[in-house]
Amino acid sequence: MTAFHHPDGEYSISRRRWRRSTLVDVQLGKVLLLENIHAVAVARLESEGYEVETLGRGLDEDELIAALPGVRLLGIRSKTKVSAKAIASATDLRAIGAFCIGTDQVDLPAAAAAGVAVFNAPFSNTRSVVELAIAEIIALTRRLTEKSAGMHRGVWDKSAEGSHEVRGRTLGIVGYGNIGTQLSVLAENLGMTVYFHDTADKLALGNARRCDSLDELLDVADVVTIHVDGRPGNSGFFGEKQFARMREGSLFLNLSRGFVIDHDALRAHLESGHLAGAAVDVFPKEPKGRGDEFVSALRGLPNVILTPHIGGSTEEAQTDIGSFVADKLHRYVTDGSTTLSVNLPAVALPQQPDTHRIALLHHNVPGVLAHVNSILAALEVNVEGQLLSTRGEYGYLVLDIAIDYPEEALKQLREMPQTILLRTVS
Ligand SMILES: NC(=O)c1ccc[n+]([C@@H]2O[C@H](COP(=O)([O-])OP(=O)(O)OC[C@H]3O[C@@H](n4cnc5c(N)ncnc54)[C@H](O)[C@@H]3O)[C@@H](O)[C@H]2O)c1
Repeated sequence: MTAFHHPDGEYSISRRRWRRSTLVDVQLGKVLLLENIHAVAVARLESEGYEVETLGRGLDEDELIAALPGVRLLGIRSKTKVSAKAIASATDLRAIGAFCIGTDQVDLPAAAAAGVAVFNAPFSNTRSVVELAIAEIIALTRRLTEKSAGMHRGVWDKSAEGSHEVRGRTLGIVGYGNIGTQLSVLAENLGMTVYFHDTADKLALGNARRCDSLDELLDVADVVTIHVDGRPGNSGFFGEKQFARMREGSLFLNLSRGFVIDHDALRAHLESGHLAGAAVDVFPKEPKGRGDEFVSALRGLPNVILTPHIGGSTEEAQTDIGSFVADKLHRYVTDGSTTLSVNLPAVALPQQPDTHRIALLHHNVPGVLAHVNSILAALEVNVEGQLLSTRGEYGYLVLDIAIDYPEEALKQLREMPQTILLRTVS
């Protein structure tokens, strides 16, 4: 074991022993997980030595500010808003885990300015959305909801009229990202022919065929399914003109964002019989809580499946989100890795043996690296590895230095005018 000096005290370079030492609390610290975050996240963080406190509900701004002193890592879902004021009050906070997909609830620029990394789980519910889309494509193609509703009213409508197999039908995927590509693969396995359209240059998977324009896709698809992202430019991008262009008797799905679709236009094309059915999971205005009334132009139509934004809501997705975000938080604390952070530059550097790691968040101005290296060179500190990445106005440098460095090195790095936050990581 090699003992060496650290501003927080003496500790061993053996990570395991270091975590067990009295410095564990200083380094790993307290974690506050709100909003009933999955038990898998609690177990993961506790097993790493964190002191984890959980709360089944979200907190409002004042409650959050009162709760944050001493908290190193904060876990939230969609209800807790983390404002600039809350972040400014939380001097011990180092990272926020949004145990969900969206991060609108966190003031990301304020977090970055305070050196607080924010992580989420952008891919954990991809499969869940894809499976719901597949289920809905089959259900609509067989007119299952109508048949089932009829049976509940006592109607025995045994007929094949208007019911089809999905095999051999053409699926048009608009937005060929994480969800669109996975759907493409599963739909082909069901025997569907897949066309896709994406504004970015995307590699076609399997036998899927790229369409250069949305119109080209609308001309051939029996089923059109929207999986674009929520960038502002996509607001209302699919409206009257696009519905009118769809094939007679075709089906429409939207499991992406509510505001990308004109719902009045969709209703008109369903009522006229031009479209044979639709499945919609996301709405421009969604009720705030369970039990609140759902208001939509799409209510009360036959062969239309409406679901309360549950595309990604499965127990499997929740478990995956729990372990994914917990892992990102832990890695940020213990090796400084910011891979997939939504607000800091991405850096992941394998640590050199027998080194001490420093993570330096700084203003992205010319000459920072030269400044850092000149400080270390003047103090004869050997740099064994370093990686710098920038994102907008911030730069993030991870560097591994020989462990017998003088404390003066840390002092001078902290005092650099460009430094926002210096962490001694491991
Ligand atoms: N219903 C749910 O519960 C649920 C769950 C998860 C994700 N989502 C939503 O699903 C959508 C897709 O998620 P993802 O992870 O696949 O996103 P992604 O970012 O991986 O993919 C989106 C794709 O859409 C493309 N695109 C953007 N605008 C376009 C346009 N106008 N025309 C054509 N292509 C366009 C992008 O280039 C990208 O390839 C997002 O809107 C996300 O919010 C919904």
